[in-house]
Amino acid sequence: MSKRIVLLGAPGSGKGTQGQMLMERRGIPQISTGDLLRAAVAAGSDLGLKAKAAMDAGELVADEVVIGMIRERLNEADTANGYILDGFPRTRAQAEALDGLLVDLGKPLDRVVHLDVDEEEIVKRLLERGRSDDTEDTIRNRMKVFRDQTHPLLEYYSERGLLVTVKGSGDLEAIYGSIVAALDA
Ligand code: AP5
Ligand code: MG
Repeated sequence: MSKRIVLLGAPGSGKGTQGQMLMERRGIPQISTGDLLRAAVAAGSDLGLKAKAAMDAGELVADEVVIGMIRERLNEADTANGYILDGFPRTRAQAEALDGLLVDLGKPLDRVVHLDVDEEEIVKRLLERGRSDDTEDTIRNRMKVFRDQTHPLLEYYSERGLLVTVKGSGDLEAIYGSIVAALDA
């Protein structure tokens, strides 16, 4: 059974939704860099102030910032039995830093699940949700950033034998079932 999991997917592909279902049903924490960053913005911390402009524009926050957050989070005790990374890594530098962290911890990743959803459905979902970065221009930019900087990680993890792609549209329980089948295969 896979325990150390990355959910990789475009904005709006369902990382948060499926990550929460996995957390509740498998009892391992979901770690979302987007949620951690939004909490920092809401708290008005230095880190939040630094991150806000990039988030509002749909650009990525600096690698050092998110890598530092993940390093701290993975050192917390509740990750000992596994975790679900949602929205991290998003760049090659982040993926390499994560590999290094996990070598230090002596516990490599088990699986990377790619949630595959087509772009028009994503735009529709996010416009309906209406988070502050869910405006049409910002959504299009987040999609572009995904294609340019995050999509190459599919090859990175495929080469390492960790990648499984799951169709991320349709019924939530059906998608969850495909993810679990991929994790337990
Ligand atoms: P982040 O918070 O990670 O946002 P995102 O990747 O753009 O993805 P979302 O959270 O919008 O979507 P999701 O895939 O979680 O889907 P969800 O389940 O919510 O990042 C935000 C920003 O923070 C970034 O732009 C960047 O600035 C910064 N950031 C974060 N991580 C970073 C990193 N590692 N490096 C640098 N910067 C970073 O679903 C979306 C909607 O669709 C919901 O309304 C949901 O109800 C609905 N939905 C879900 N599944 C279905 C379904 N099957 N059918 C119909 N509707 C569905
Ligand atoms: Mg999310």
